[in-house]
Amino acid sequence: MQTLHVELGERRYPIFIGSDLNPQQLLEPYIHGKQVMIVSNDTVAPLYLEHYKTALEKLGKTVATCILPDGEKFKDIQHLNLIFDALLEAGFNRDCTVLALGGGVIGDMAGFASACFQRGVYFIQVPTTLLSQVDSSVGGKTGINHSLGKNMIGAFQQPQVVLADMSQLSTLPDRELSAGLAEVIKYALLGDEDFLVWLEANMEGLIARDEQLLAEAVYRSCAHKARIVANDEKEQGERALLNLGHTFGHAIESYLGYGEWLHGEAVATGMVMAADLSQRMGWISEADLARTKKIISRAKLPIVCPKIPLDDFLGYMAHDKKVLNGQLRLVLLEQLGQAIITRDFDVELMKQAILVNQA
Ligand SMILES: NC(=O)c1ccc[n+]([C@@H]2O[C@H](COP(=O)([O-])OP(=O)(O)OC[C@H]3O[C@@H](n4cnc5c(N)ncnc54)[C@H](O)[C@@H]3O)[C@@H](O)[C@H]2O)c1
Ligand SMILES: [Zn+2]
Repeated sequence: MQTLHVELGERRYPIFIGSDLNPQQLLEPYIHGKQVMIVSNDTVAPLYLEHYKTALEKLGKTVATCILPDGEKFKDIQHLNLIFDALLEAGFNRDCTVLALGGGVIGDMAGFASACFQRGVYFIQVPTTLLSQVDSSVGGKTGINHSLGKNMIGAFQQPQVVLADMSQLSTLPDRELSAGLAEVIKYALLGDEDFLVWLEANMEGLIARDEQLLAEAVYRSCAHKARIVANDEKEQGERALLNLGHTFGHAIESYLGYGEWLHGEAVATGMVMAADLSQRMGWISEADLARTKKIISRAKLPIVCPKIPLDDFLGYMAHDKKVLNGQLRLVLLEQLGQAIITRDFDVELMKQAILVNQA
């Protein structure tokens, strides 16, 4: 097992990464009070709920559960309220802990519920998708969707501890595994060429779910995110680098309708567009661009998106949160392994980068 710390002063917390982790032993020091609410969904609960419930009961905790329907479309205020119902019906007090057992949807909802219930109770993350292990469980952003916008209502809420168990990835659907790998590749492209070389050497093993390789990929990804978050918790600057591929990706997701393509798949093609524009700007070479596409393809991710009319594409990009004072800022690559946030790019070249990477 490897341990990583997210350095946030007195809110510093550990991420435990490994296989067949022992929740009883690892969670015990981080649970304040006697009451634990496990929030999960109806896909993950049948697989893993009993394991955690038993471990917590062995620690003498009063365990209650709230099982939500599976899906991004339930990441809304109605279903958030079901968590509050469960907490109140169980008679939980301000000393309780909310434990998220699931992917990013459950992590975001349970985290937000824990930030609001009684003005804030303790929170623990047990992410069960690769994406949530390398991305959403680190950094403290939590929230729900509104019918007028994704992730529009939320709070910063740091967990006490994160438990990332590679064994649980064995049941993850192939597409979800690849979607998580998109965010892993993102860390390499934006800040770590050595990691890119490592991914190039180990991609087949990752796809085959070698747990040791997965643990290494999660560790290195979380280390990047943890460092960036520690420097810039509230996204005033550097944290925006984590949006590499995301402005293009959001346009793809929005046009196709959420649910059609997975987030990671859209980000994958978005990263190709960002790399393509960086190459057109003369910052990275054609070989670098080819290398970017190759590693994304090897992760079984798409490198082109369906035909999307340019006006629609640009319209969705303009709606992205990264637009500051009406000016689009993009995360682009100065080199492979070094991203920058910039307004200084040629819009015509950006349009070409979008158009050539469509089917
Ligand atoms: N807070 C953040 O910083 C942050 C960052 C990135 C993404 N997110 C959010 O995370 C969400 C996406 O997360 P996700 O990709 O984990 O999706 P998800 O939570 O919907 O999980 C994907 C699917 O895998 C299933 N699943 C989860 N673990 C499983 C397992 N071990 N075995 C079998 N099936 C399993 C889920 O039930 C679901 O059907 C989005 O809502 C996004 O907004 C948040
Ligand atoms: Zn993402």
